[in-house]
Amino acid sequence: MARVLRHIAYLCVAVGLATPAIALEGNVDAGKKVFAKCGVCHGIGDVKKPIGPNLNNVVGRPAATQPEFLAKGAAGYSKAMVAAGAGGLVWTEDQIAEWVANPKKKIPGTKMAFPGLSKEQDIADVIAYVKTFSQ
Ligand code: HEC
Repeated sequence: MARVLRHIAYLCVAVGLATPAIALEGNVDAGKKVFAKCGVCHGIGDVKKPIGPNLNNVVGRPAATQPEFLAKGAAGYSKAMVAAGAGGLVWTEDQIAEWVANPKKKIPGTKMAFPGLSKEQDIADVIAYVKTFSQ
C-alpha cells in the first residue's frame, strides 16, 4: 500500500500536481456494483434485507445502534459488535474501510459472515456508494 501511495505521489509530481493523493478516490457507480455483495444481507435506501443491519445513515453512527436490528436482541447484533459499540467504535469512513477489508480481524466474534474485500479501490468505491445514503 505504501508503495502504491508513493507511486501515486511520484505520478502527481510528474504531471505537476501540487498535492499528491493521500487516499484512493471512491466512485459511486463502481461502488454500487461492489455493494451487490453486501446487498445479499444489508438493506440500503428502500431495499430491506433481514440478515444484516440496514446501512442507511451508517456513516457516523456508533456501532450496533441500528434500531430495527437492535430490536432483534440476540438474533440481531453479536455480543462482539455490541461490545465494540459500547467501547466507542463509530463507523467513520476509515473504520468502515478497516471493517470491510477483514471483518473477523477488526471484530473477532462478529456475525458478519463475509471474508472481506481485498482491493483498496473496491473498498473506496463501496464506501462512496454507502455514503450517498448517509446524511
Ligand atoms: C453474509 C451477510 C453479510 C454480508 C455479505 C455483508 N454483511 Fe455487513 N453485516 C452483516 C451482519 C450479520 C452484521 C452484524 C454483525 C455483528 O453484529 O457482529 C453486519 C454489520 C455490518 C456493519 C456494522 C453496522 C452497524 O450497525 O453497526 C457494517 C458497516 C457493514 N456490515 C457493512 C457491510 C458492507 C459494506 C458489506 C459489503 C462489502 C457487508 N457488510 C457485507 C452481514 C453481512
